[in-house]
Amino acid sequence: MFDPLPDGGVVRKLWPHEADDYAAHLLRLDKDSRRRRFSGAVSDELIRRHAAKARGLGVVVFGFFVNGVMRGSAELRRDLSPLSRNGEAAFAIERDWQSHGVGSALLQRALLTARNRGIKLLKMYCLADNERMQQLARKFDAELKFDFGSVVGEVDPPRSTWLSLTREALADQHGLMATLLEKQRNLFRQG
Ligand SMILES: CC(C)(COP(=O)(O)OP(=O)(O)OC[C@H]1O[C@@H](n2cnc3c(N)ncnc32)[C@H](O)[C@@H]1OP(=O)(O)O)[C@@H](O)C(=O)NCCC(=O)NCCS
Repeated sequence: MFDPLPDGGVVRKLWPHEADDYAAHLLRLDKDSRRRRFSGAVSDELIRRHAAKARGLGVVVFGFFVNGVMRGSAELRRDLSPLSRNGEAAFAIERDWQSHGVGSALLQRALLTARNRGIKLLKMYCLADNERMQQLARKFDAELKFDFGSVVGEVDPPRSTWLSLTREALADQHGLMATLLEKQRNLFRQG
């Protein structure tokens, strides 16, 4: 259903109480990845504030978790203006997990959710020299039309179907099961 992930890795939506995990992950990014994720230099404080605000209406954050630790993220934001069908997505994978297909898996999940939320234009701001992100975007050529500079993708088709809603619901269920299993494993480890 989705691209395979590195062994032991799980992609799931973040729960509202996991803002600290999101901040910790973004703070672990190396300097270059941090600059690419935020299209410029940003302070630790700004990252903490950004992570704390990344919840609520119109925002969905996906995490890539390994042994309960968040190692990658995709943040999807829908423009809340009444007539707008625009959205924005941003991706970050910690250095050791880059080039293992995690970005591809996260983009796939973000696209499905964008489609189910009625987003038609999805913007991914990306520095001009970000070849990896551009390569990643190209993989989704059939679904997205890209205009590099700032990357704008047209979600195609821009509407949900019974199948796309079911796929998202199944992925969410899988994410919930993975969280519960991880919690159980932690309890065993502590015991
Ligand atoms: C850009 C980023 C999200 C891509 O995620 P990723 O997990 O590294 O990407 P994937 O492993 O899924 O690979 C995506 C494609 O890029 C290609 N790729 C991998 N490493 C590459 C490199 N060093 N240069 C160019 N292309 C590369 C892969 O070949 C793959 O294409 P393929 O499957 O057709 O072979 C990730 O590297 C990252 O977080 N970088 C720092 C932050 C950033 O740039 N964010 C984007 C701005 S929002």
